[in-house]
Amino acid sequence: MVFFFAAFLLVLQVVAAASLHRRNEPIPPSQDPFYTAPPNFQKAVPGQILRARLAPGNLSSIAGAAYALNLLYRTTDSNLAPSWAVTTLFVPAKPKKVLLSYQFPEDSVDIDGAPSYLFYHPGDMPADINNAVAQGWVVNVPDYEGPFSQFTVGIQSGLATLDSVRAALTLFPVKNYAMWGYSGGTIASEWAAELVSKYAPELKFSGMAIGGTVANLTASLETINGGTFASLVASSLIGLSRQNPAANQFLMQHLIPATKNQFLAIQQENFFDAIPNYAGQNIFSYFDNDILHSQPIQQVISTNGIMGTHGVPPMQTFFYHAINDELIPIQYTDALVNKYCTAGAKILYKRNSVGTHLPEAFEEDSDVFQWLVGVLENGQTMTGCNIQNVTITGS
Ligand SMILES: *[C@@H]1O[C@H](CO)[C@@H](O)[C@H](O)[C@H]1NC(C)=O
Ligand SMILES: *[C@@H]1O[C@H](CO)[C@@H](O)[C@H](O)[C@H]1NC(C)=O
Ligand SMILES: *[C@@H]1O[C@H](CO)[C@@H](O)[C@H](O)[C@H]1NC(C)=O
Repeated sequence: MVFFFAAFLLVLQVVAAASLHRRNEPIPPSQDPFYTAPPNFQKAVPGQILRARLAPGNLSSIAGAAYALNLLYRTTDSNLAPSWAVTTLFVPAKPKKVLLSYQFPEDSVDIDGAPSYLFYHPGDMPADINNAVAQGWVVNVPDYEGPFSQFTVGIQSGLATLDSVRAALTLFPVKNYAMWGYSGGTIASEWAAELVSKYAPELKFSGMAIGGTVANLTASLETINGGTFASLVASSLIGLSRQNPAANQFLMQHLIPATKNQFLAIQQENFFDAIPNYAGQNIFSYFDNDILHSQPIQQVISTNGIMGTHGVPPMQTFFYHAINDELIPIQYTDALVNKYCTAGAKILYKRNSVGTHLPEAFEEDSDVFQWLVGVLENGQTMTGCNIQNVTITGS
């Protein structure tokens, strides 16, 4: 049948309009006018497409997609004020009636580290995206941190994710759609799931898969500090204060002048570039106080960094976590799952005795993908809670 015909017409319109904006080579979001707020964006409804184009350069071929679109859409920020964000849609040659919203762990406060641009760097696009496109799924990858790169801000990340799905569904009105995210990507996926019932009640996700879930941001930052990925602590402190003037002023006041610039330099570094510059450091020693546990920072974390406080995911959810995760302590995911199970959520939770944080993403990968195939293509549903200790080494 003429499957997706209406959507296809819409896409043609978008692409026709988009070709006005078409560029051959990608330019960094910090310099690309496509990423700026259009006039009167406040008047658009959340999820409305404000601007569209074919993604520049060869992004579609990197993903193995027939084409890739960038959409700029209206969303809502962590202060619940109107905002905007960009998402990238990867469209296979023969799309099935399925959409996967893949929340990539951007893990950076540099807008040029957003996935819509980062993925041009060889090797930075995760194979999950290629696999999903090869499966025939339309893949939505939002820059959910928004125009101010609010890393680790739950409400910002969740709402920008929901509105990206709304924008994607206007072009591809499928019935079966799901979310997936690992590590930093859980901050977007899980918060979207907590907020969906109130913010976007018309969205009915078929499921969600989240691994290495950042259930308690304070605990994760305490654990990550001093290790290989200490850069994440610096990025998080900046991300948390980006749209909170009190926290921002407090952060600036308590930075030790001699090393202030070294700390703030991370604002121009994507996740990968930042790692070696901060590895092994005690990030809290850039401050003259206990910055993480200070009132202004804890206040942002209490509303944007503790999962399970804004709602219960209404969709069936696959949680996975390495028991020996050295970055994101599993005890808080255990507590979150227990809380949701008590509230009647539908959960499959695999606690893996093999591996640590980074290996777990790959060990569970094909298991998660098969679960998503079941949920998105075969009508698979589950009831109740199923918590398992597993030994999964991946293939
Ligand atoms: C995409 O373009 C870059 C540079 O322009 C090139 O190095 C890379 O091989 C291309 N990748 C694909 C999959 O076409
Ligand atoms: C989050 O972790 C911090 C630090 O470990 C702990 O003090 C706090 O009680 C935790 N919060 C919740 C809600 O579990
Ligand atoms: C999983 O292992 C933990 C110990 O690591 C134990 O406390 C728990 O009861 C086990 N859960 C299941 C479902 O077997």
